[in-house]
Amino acid sequence: MSVLPPVPMPFGAIPLRGDAARAVAAVRLRALAADLPDGLSVRMMDLDDSNLLADFRVRVVATLEDPDHYRMAGEVGNFVTDHLGDRGLTAGIFRKGVLVAYGALGLPSATDPNRGRDLDLPEAELPWVAHMSSAMVDPSERGRGLHHRLIDWRIEVAEALGRRHLVTTVSTRNHRSWGHLARHGIYPKRLVRVGGDLVRLLVHRDFTVDPVFDTASAELVAVEELASRWDVFDRGHVWGRVAAGEGASQRWYALCGRERDPR
Ligand SMILES: CC(C)(COP(=O)(O)OP(=O)(O)OC[C@H]1O[C@@H](n2cnc3c(N)ncnc32)[C@H](O)[C@@H]1OP(=O)(O)O)[C@@H](O)C(=O)NCCC(=O)NCCS
Repeated sequence: MSVLPPVPMPFGAIPLRGDAARAVAAVRLRALAADLPDGLSVRMMDLDDSNLLADFRVRVVATLEDPDHYRMAGEVGNFVTDHLGDRGLTAGIFRKGVLVAYGALGLPSATDPNRGRDLDLPEAELPWVAHMSSAMVDPSERGRGLHHRLIDWRIEVAEALGRRHLVTTVSTRNHRSWGHLARHGIYPKRLVRVGGDLVRLLVHRDFTVDPVFDTASAELVAVEELASRWDVFDRGHVWGRVAAGEGASQRWYALCGRERDPR
């Protein structure tokens, strides 16, 4: 059997949102559901879950080891309404009916704020941006691959919706979060200021390109220094995170460097 080439988006196509996008996303939850650890279930969340999601987020943020890891001040709009309504999609993972994790994908329309602008994407590509808005996992459920699964699901949904650019901002110090995204090809490409004076990594993946790391340019930058190292992003970007040492003396680094010339 021959493999069909990818179907290009017709000129003037309008990206799906609302119920149509939700249906596409729900179908892609099946693979996630089949692979969850015992006792967990997953479903799409909607506006009836607003209080559930809002309370969960407040609870997780209150337990952060470093408050800089997630600042709601850096968000744009009403996160809960936007991601449970027409401007986004959210999957919730539950244990015995209790929300223990979520992953949210933002689907900005032409009039919504769009992080693609921070990347200087051409106007024509902005409709095809999806925001990898946020994921949180209850502390008691961490280390079971829930975040990685929620990243995979959002990548599949964005691709299915033809949103070729995945973009979001992350705290430089939240190396677990950006390190996980980088393992899925969503690399920290720039530093940006958000919500006033917060310095954040702008992470991005374009499904139509497959960048290759020029290992000859490799440089390690300590995570605590990353927010002041704008020069790193003039030369290249971050490709992943690296640990050095063990236990209390363990330190985390960003692996930085240039992209290999595609020739
Ligand atoms: C960041 C956060 C979402 C990670 O959630 P998590 O579910 O513990 O992450 P995972 O379990 O997918 O990954 C954690 C580790 O478990 C490992 N793991 C264990 N079982 C796994 C499996 N079955 N599949 C994949 N990875 C697995 C992963 O390899 C990973 O190791 P790594 O950190 O060295 O890459 C969570 O710590 C959190 O909610 N933090 C607070 C909020 C926040 O910062 N959110 C992100 C910004 S929006």
